Amino acid sequence: MTVTIVGSQYGDEGKGGAVDLFGDGADVVVRYQGGNNAGHTVVVGEDTYELALLPSGVVRGTTAVIGSGCVVDLGTLFEELDGLRERGLDPKVRVAERAHVVLPYHRRLDGIEEAAKADADGDLAAGTTGRGIGPAYEDKAGRRGVRVCDLRDPETLRERLAYVVPHRRALAEDVYGATVDEAFDVESLFETCREWGRRLDREDLAVDCGAYLDRRRRAGDAVLFEGAQGTLLDVDHGTYPYVTSSNPTAGAAATGSGVGPSVVSDGTVVGVVKGYLTRVGTGPFPTELAGVEGQTAGYDGAGDDREEELATTIREAGGEYGVNTGRPRRVGWLDLPVLRHAARTSGFDGLVVGHVDVLADLDAVRVAEAYRLDGERTETVPASAADLGRCEPVYRTFDGWPDVDWPAVAERGYEALPDGAREYVEFVVDAVDADLTAVGVGPGREETVVVDDPWG
Ligand code: IMP
Repeated sequence: MTVTIVGSQYGDEGKGGAVDLFGDGADVVVRYQGGNNAGHTVVVGEDTYELALLPSGVVRGTTAVIGSGCVVDLGTLFEELDGLRERGLDPKVRVAERAHVVLPYHRRLDGIEEAAKADADGDLAAGTTGRGIGPAYEDKAGRRGVRVCDLRDPETLRERLAYVVPHRRALAEDVYGATVDEAFDVESLFETCREWGRRLDREDLAVDCGAYLDRRRRAGDAVLFEGAQGTLLDVDHGTYPYVTSSNPTAGAAATGSGVGPSVVSDGTVVGVVKGYLTRVGTGPFPTELAGVEGQTAGYDGAGDDREEELATTIREAGGEYGVNTGRPRRVGWLDLPVLRHAARTSGFDGLVVGHVDVLADLDAVRVAEAYRLDGERTETVPASAADLGRCEPVYRTFDGWPDVDWPAVAERGYEALPDGAREYVEFVVDAVDADLTAVGVGPGREETVVVDDPWG
């Protein structure tokens, strides 16, 4: 049995909370794409854990696997492992031998290229997390990357670095005119990689991911696939070029872990949606309220007063600041074309609608049912980011709902939700062909109303 959890918006939908909750039914939690650009917050009682690379389930003692489709910054991996151990946990972790390694020069190139893109006509900068994710995937697709299995093989490692580093260094120096440091030095990288390789061996962390998961599944273990980022950040299905460099959508749970697609589709695919919308970084966002300087194109800090107030209220109530980078998130109304796109792309069986408490006490809550583009109504997300930027939302307005004792609501169940909140949630779920899995009414897992457990 498998459950796959996918973000249906621009990331930060609260997948960590859903994985934490449903991770209880899993023996293994697998990340299948991305790297330490993700940021999940897991609240366990009084303790809050913030993780960028390890899957959320790790804090509950579930085996955490970083799949072949990920790019792994081993410095971050070891920091997260050490941090959890210092807090008294005994994390069980496995890393795919076929996963690619994020090297220090990838981070440098990320920053260098983002700066150049920001200066280019048309501003191509995606506002990346600066973790080297794009450059690492570039090396992977360019068939010159270093993989986890290479860290144990000094000869291959040296040959690979000797080929790739001078090219990347020339790119930094000659194309971008950047000054480089030891992040581009073959010897220094070789030593760092060997140290990582020795520690992977000492702790017996590296596995053949597909074979490992096959063994676990044959032994009857339940596997949860944890998507990072969100559908609209998918390199193929998102708002390209304002996307990440991997596929957060459910198909990648198979390719990024080494199981067949039927393993994923025979299980349950659950989309996570926030009751409103947030985005970190640049790119189009038709339902955005006001804006955030440096991220919203053309925004100079002075928008419509009412929108500014609403955006601030939601941002503060929802704690909408990047876990990873601390950046304030751009905030807007829920967007159904985005949600339909996500449901179709990943084939959602169920939907978790979260952050319903954050919207409490607003006079009205709005949802974009469709867009108007060049005078025509459309219910789908246009392929071109420029076209999406020109879309005008067609809104439906709902009455607000009161702020209530949300933990008590969670305890009493779905019928205890305020009427307005229930009407809103049902409207959203009806808009996509999925069942309601759960409603999130607070950050802790006990503040979630489970309607239909995806494990059955
Ligand atoms: P990268 O993944 O660091 O290359 O960043 C590419 C785009 O994806 C940027 O707009 C980032 O802000 C966004 N992004 C990457 N990871 C996350 C995430 O976990 N949550 C939200 N946005 C993300």
